[in-house]
Amino acid sequence: MTATQFHDYSPEDSCFYTDVVEGMSQSPKQLSPKYFYDQRGSELFEQICQQPEYYPTQTEIGILHEHREEIAALSGAGCELVEFGCGASRKIGVLLEGLKPKTYIGIDISRDFLIESTHRLAQDYPWLEVHGLCADLCEPLTLERSADGQRMGFYPGSSIGNYEPTEAQALLRNFRNLLGPGGTLLIGVDLKKDPKILNAAYNDSTGITSQFNLNVLERMKQELGAEVDTSAFEHQAFYNAEKGRVEMHLVSTREQDLRIGASRFSFDKGESIHTENSYKYTVPEFQSLCWRAGYEAVQCWTDKNALFSVQLFRVVGL
Ligand code: AVI
Repeated sequence: MTATQFHDYSPEDSCFYTDVVEGMSQSPKQLSPKYFYDQRGSELFEQICQQPEYYPTQTEIGILHEHREEIAALSGAGCELVEFGCGASRKIGVLLEGLKPKTYIGIDISRDFLIESTHRLAQDYPWLEVHGLCADLCEPLTLERSADGQRMGFYPGSSIGNYEPTEAQALLRNFRNLLGPGGTLLIGVDLKKDPKILNAAYNDSTGITSQFNLNVLERMKQELGAEVDTSAFEHQAFYNAEKGRVEMHLVSTREQDLRIGASRFSFDKGESIHTENSYKYTVPEFQSLCWRAGYEAVQCWTDKNALFSVQLFRVVGL
């Protein structure tokens, strides 16, 4: 097996039970989207990315492919490439071919995904020095840089959209410390557009997104012994224009209780659990968020229909 260097920052496991009880006690009820991603949820997400209505994945890959040479020229050859939240690391291939970085550093909170994906990369690209950093992206990130290499961060998929804008700003500020002076950040950002396109993307006709959303209730049953009638919940996703985000909810179709251990949570008919926000930005909105986080805009590429953007920023003021 090809060698990779593994750095374990022992991120704290979040507590599903505590977060569910806390989220169900709030009004309106809510739960963090991070709980979507157990084994089944991650598989369903992979399937979402292949649905014709869910344009972000293929559109982003198309943009990266079309502009790979310009991206490479702007980032400088021989850089250290840092992938934030690398997970299954499916989009990095396009960049590795173009950038020919000296080093790849994949960062993810999921140890298993990280080990698997860094080993795969080390095998596929034997010339590449591969590091895996098991860490929470929201916690301070450090890794000693090699003497000569500038760092380029890569944060694809518009994952930034799953954070509240103020949290997104704090997260990008955290990335900036790892990227260091002169470092760059290449980030995929989903754009504001006709709500019909957004509503279709989160309500695919095959019903995969619905299964993805409902899977979190299955997790509650399996992992926490929750008593809940999952068939009496429905997936709901819609664009909230005022907030500039797609919201996902699980709506109770009747009055019912959800029980976990000694706790009981009552639902009215039509009451929901708010499970995800996916913020959409205009290019200027996102550039000003990045400016507040300590970056200047370098370049922005979009597809011909302006559905999605890949934006390049440079760290300033470090
Ligand atoms: C991971 N994240 C960027 C996806 C999104 O579009 O917000 C998650 C997702 N939720 C429903 N479909 C996809």
